[in-house]
Amino acid sequence: MKVLLISGTNHKGSTYTIGRMLADKLNADEIKEVFLPKDMPKQCRGCTRCIIEEEAKCPDYSFIKPITDSIDEADILILTSPVYVLHVTGQMKSLLDHYAYRWMVHRPSEKMFSKQAVCISTAGGAGMKSTNKDMADSLKFWGVGRIYTYGVAVAATSWESVSASKKQKIEKKINRIAQKLKKRQNNVTPSFKVKVLFYLMRIFQKRIKINPVDYDYWEAKGWLGKSRPWKTAT
Ligand SMILES: Cc1cc2nc3c(=O)[nH]c(=O)nc-3n(C[C@H](O)[C@H](O)[C@H](O)COP(=O)(O)O)c2cc1C
Repeated sequence: MKVLLISGTNHKGSTYTIGRMLADKLNADEIKEVFLPKDMPKQCRGCTRCIIEEEAKCPDYSFIKPITDSIDEADILILTSPVYVLHVTGQMKSLLDHYAYRWMVHRPSEKMFSKQAVCISTAGGAGMKSTNKDMADSLKFWGVGRIYTYGVAVAATSWESVSASKKQKIEKKINRIAQKLKKRQNNVTPSFKVKVLFYLMRIFQKRIKINPVDYDYWEAKGWLGKSRPWKTAT
C-alpha cells in the first residue's frame, strides 16, 4: 500500500505531525511526502489552458506533474492543513486550484474512485470544519472513493506546546481512522455521494457539451455509454 502525505505547510508542526502519525500507522510499503509551498511554489494564474487544452499546457506543469504522479500512484491520500483565517493555507489552495481540470465536471481520473483519503486540520480554536471542507471538496470532485476528515483544536501554536492529554486523545482518534482505512483498503468502492456526482456530471457532459476536450475525454473513456470509472480502475 502506498501513502501520499500532502502537507499544507513546509514546517513540521502539529498538523504535519498528526498526518505523519496516521501515515505511520497504516503499515504502508511506501510513504511519500509533499510539502507546500516547497514542492509547488506557484499560484494558478487563470490561463485555463489545463481545462480547455490539456493539463500539460499548464505553465506550472513541471511542478505539478511529479505531484500528480504521486497522487495517481497512492492508495491513500492524506491532505493536511493548519487553519489559517478559517480556511486552508494559501499554498494548499494554490495546489488544489491547479487540479480544477480533474474535477468531475471536466476530466476526472478513473484512478481516484478506488482511493481513500483523509483531510486533517488543526487550529488554535476554530475553523477545522471549513478547512477540512476546502480539501474534501476537491477530493470529492476528483472522484475519490472514500473521504474522512479529522479536525482538532490543539490550543497551541506548536506540537511541543500541545498538552499531553490532548496528544493522547489525538492518538486515539488517529488509531481509529487508521483501522477504518486498513479495513476498507482492499475493497474501496466509491461512496453514494461520489457516484451521484458522477451521474450528474455525466448528464451535464451528454447534454451540454460545453468543453469539447472534456466531452471527447468522457466519450473515449466510455463513460457516456456503459463504462464506469470505478469498474475500469486499475
Ligand atoms: C496566519 C495564521 C492564521 C491562523 N488562523 C487561525 C484561525 O482562523 N483559527 C484558529 O483557531 N487558529 C488559527 N491559527 C492558529 C493555527 O491554526 C494553529 O496554531 C495550528 O495548530 C498551527 O498548526 P501547525 O503547528 O501545523 O503550524 C492561525 C495561525 C496562523 C499562522
